[in-house]
Amino acid sequence: MLSKKMQKALCDQVTAEHYSAYLYLGMSAYFNSIDLPGFANWMYIQAQEELVHGIAIYHQIHERNGEVTLNTIEAPPKKWKSPVDVFENTCSHEQKVTASINNLVNLAIEEKDHATNNFLQWYVKEQVEEEATAYAILQKLKMMKDAPGGIFMMDKELGARVFTMPSIMAASAD
Ligand code: FEO
Repeated sequence: MLSKKMQKALCDQVTAEHYSAYLYLGMSAYFNSIDLPGFANWMYIQAQEELVHGIAIYHQIHERNGEVTLNTIEAPPKKWKSPVDVFENTCSHEQKVTASINNLVNLAIEEKDHATNNFLQWYVKEQVEEEATAYAILQKLKMMKDAPGGIFMMDKELGARVFTMPSIMAASAD
């Protein structure tokens, strides 16, 4: 059984993951608007992954006989200055997500809720990857600043990304 405090924090994370999806969907729209379909594809897949992150928590709350309360999802920024600006914001957003996952783990430990702590470890690991991937793309973009052809090569590379169901979904759908 989830404590009320833990339940509320997990519900807030469901909303936060959906905001991430919305943020990345907005970034995907931006890349489409500047004719970078590969970048748009990468962000679109990122948005899909975030939805799954949120839905997996939703399932977990039910699995623990909890009640889900959904909150308002705020609108993401509508304008971006450049691809670098987008990925700088992606990096800082993922750092914020990491902090909120860490806070959830801290709460689970405080509440002696080992099941939630165990569940959240998937997210702890995932955040390492999320931060590293966004940072690697940002660094590449910064290096390409003076090579106009570079961004188009990168667009091709990011266009090859395909969606694969995050493993947390398989675990939470059991
Ligand atoms: Fe659900 Fe990008 O972290």
